[in-house]
Amino acid sequence: MKEIQSIGILTSGGDSPGMNAAIRAVTRAAIFAGWKVYGIYRGYEGLIHGEMKEFTSESVSNTIQRGGTILKSARSDDFLTVEGRVKAYENLRKHHIDALVVIGGNGSLSGAQDLAREHDVTVIGLPGTIDNDLYGTDSTIGYDTALNTIVDCVDKIRDTATSHDRIFFVEVMGRDAGFLAQNSAIAAGAEAAIIPEDRTDIDQLAQFIGRGIRKSKNSSIVIVSESHKDGTGGALHYAERVRTEYPEFDVRVTILGHLQRGGRPTAYDRILASRLGVAAIEALKEGQRNIMVGVKNDQIVYVPIARAVKIDKPIDPELINVLTVLSI
Ligand code: F6P
Repeated sequence: MKEIQSIGILTSGGDSPGMNAAIRAVTRAAIFAGWKVYGIYRGYEGLIHGEMKEFTSESVSNTIQRGGTILKSARSDDFLTVEGRVKAYENLRKHHIDALVVIGGNGSLSGAQDLAREHDVTVIGLPGTIDNDLYGTDSTIGYDTALNTIVDCVDKIRDTATSHDRIFFVEVMGRDAGFLAQNSAIAAGAEAAIIPEDRTDIDQLAQFIGRGIRKSKNSSIVIVSESHKDGTGGALHYAERVRTEYPEFDVRVTILGHLQRGGRPTAYDRILASRLGVAAIEALKEGQRNIMVGVKNDQIVYVPIARAVKIDKPIDPELINVLTVLSI
């Protein structure tokens, strides 16, 4: 096995709070190990175009508390092609980069897997997404911060919901994963969550209505995961249905949008990102390749990237039960 002397690091896909803490940790742990570090800008797009520079320990000073990503991020269409990945590989070779650390979500880690399958590159993934939808890790970098942001917003919305006796449909991110919706609903004391995992023939809105909204309460808050890729679902859709089927209700919609992705990372996300970043370098020292570093029961784990991206991470039915029981 070739000894590692130099690594590259990039952030890809949607930014998430704590990515900077992860960049900092990977950079400093690699320098601590005596390796060179290249910061690659704009994700795979920047790798394809050779946008990189050598990082020192100072390059990541004063970043742990900042949201977003100092390396910038992108969703690269070129990298989805074989030719794009050839260019990316050539740039890694040109800079003598022995291993690539990718911080990102499902699509970004799938891209890392494709690169490793087609070329002789060692890749290590770190789970960086607010969606928390990567299998094999209890939490992803940015999820805790986004969850807290949502809860903070819903607390504020509740003031108006209560004052005006209204039903609010609050839309949160997570097109394919309901972790943000389900857990923010529990934490904010919402009446229901409508999540993609529960897309059965049972209509979740009908369930909510059937449970008797406003029988004992004057206001309600329903957290809804954003609409699916096929355009179905979403808060506007459910609000419109209630307006049509139950015109007696005063309905409003709030779409939280990208404010969920920004802001200072929580202490939890900073610590998670720092631990995962250091563990990524430990994994490389041990000769690991093509794995995602995650955390399970507060212990660092290595998960083959193929599993992390392919297997659906289920929502614990216990969480669904907790919300149902507590929203009577
Ligand atoms: O994957 C993170 C995420 O914020 C999803 O929750 C959301 O569906 C998507 O990214 C939005 O992407 P964009 O910022 O490219 O519109």
